[in-house]
Amino acid sequence: MTNAKSTPIRRGLWSSRMAFILAATGSAVGLGNIWKFPYVTGENGGGAFVLVYLLCIAIVGIPIMMAEVFIGRNGRHNPITSLRVVAERNLASPLWRIAASVGVLAAFIILSFYSVIGGWAASYVGHAAAGDFTGQSAGAINELFSGLLASPLTLLFWHTVFMALVIFVVARGLKSGLERAVTILMPTLLVLLLVAVGYGTTTGYFGDAVAFLFTPDFSALTVDGVLIALGHAFFTLSLGMAVMMAYGSYLGDNISIGRTAVTVSIMDTVVALMAGLAIFPLVFANGLEASAGPGLIFQTLPLAFGQLPMGGLFSTLFFLLLLFAAWTSAISVLEPVVEWLEDKLFIGRMGSTLAVGSACWLLGIASILSFNEWSGYAPLGMFERFEGQTIFDLLDFFTANVMLPLSGLLTAVFVGWCVAKKSLQNELALQGGSFALWYTLIRYVTPVAVAVVFIYNLAA
Ligand code: PHE
Ligand code: NA
Repeated sequence: MTNAKSTPIRRGLWSSRMAFILAATGSAVGLGNIWKFPYVTGENGGGAFVLVYLLCIAIVGIPIMMAEVFIGRNGRHNPITSLRVVAERNLASPLWRIAASVGVLAAFIILSFYSVIGGWAASYVGHAAAGDFTGQSAGAINELFSGLLASPLTLLFWHTVFMALVIFVVARGLKSGLERAVTILMPTLLVLLLVAVGYGTTTGYFGDAVAFLFTPDFSALTVDGVLIALGHAFFTLSLGMAVMMAYGSYLGDNISIGRTAVTVSIMDTVVALMAGLAIFPLVFANGLEASAGPGLIFQTLPLAFGQLPMGGLFSTLFFLLLLFAAWTSAISVLEPVVEWLEDKLFIGRMGSTLAVGSACWLLGIASILSFNEWSGYAPLGMFERFEGQTIFDLLDFFTANVMLPLSGLLTAVFVGWCVAKKSLQNELALQGGSFALWYTLIRYVTPVAVAVVFIYNLAA
């Protein structure tokens, strides 16, 4: 990566298709899979929610991922400029770049609270290593978690550590370190998840967990739940926040965008489902609430690992990997914002990384306080729907469920209706029938599905 401005070929490329898949998977697989997926599934009643979520991945997520990577590679600039370049090339309005602007703004806000949760993972590495979970009861483990949330300074410390790690990598340019890290970390994370799932099978409640996740009970699904499933599909695949556009801009010309996007999406989904299969047996076995919210994994997994032989080692490794997964995701969220600022202000990569990173860090403090000092403060409490929702809850809700789908909707309409079909066929390199399927999805199904969910929700 160099600092030369605005020549389409200025950018270094991923060293191979595999490198891109790893980086994109590193972005996709993160707290969204292991922390968020289980708790939103628990809050929204299980099976029916999972079904809608899987449907959203298939007919909205995968097509939009291809569209975003296409924009990045075709534009070869920061996401906002790429969108403008592709629009101009296709004689469409440069205003389409708003699709990426919304995404960059969402990325910025998401990183602010993502880093706070990443900090939880970091602090749990310490607890695990100190053997704090070994043989503990559910009550003691809950207390440990509430103690963390109750202390703004501890949260601030770990939030700062996490953000510093992210700034460090992004400031140096993300390719070399990232590629290597993900190659080792992803497979290890899978193995540890398998261990956790394996433990789940010994609890006697594995069947209940499978039933909870895969038996759809539509009476448990609300209109809000459908919006949350859609929003989570965006969040988990890192869509609607210009990340895949930024990563696509480093993708070699001869690589099939179609196959690559499908591979990344499948890996992300597998990790999420495995996390669900690891966590819900423990929830049921220990009489915990499936709807416990954001603390769910921090209250269940330590319990499981605490019962295992060598549990201290396993849990340390697990939270370390969760931390790494969160780290590679956070890096990818910072990247588009930094790229854009770098091109905009000419303050160099280091300067723009520090500027964006510190602004994000500052905003993160509002999320930290949401868990303690401001936990009773619900800024939109006058609306029934947002009753009791803290600043953290609202930032999460509006980014994942409003901004990401909105950015995705604009992207789908732009790519489906404004970009020449020929150029899409060339870049996506999908075989005959698959291209026709994708084209139908991105032109009709994806925009209509997102729009319907939106309008339904406004009306509800
Ligand atoms: N996709 C990531 C995850 O599931 C989260 C993320 C959000 C990554 C936003 C990048 C941007 O954890
Ligand atoms: Na994810």
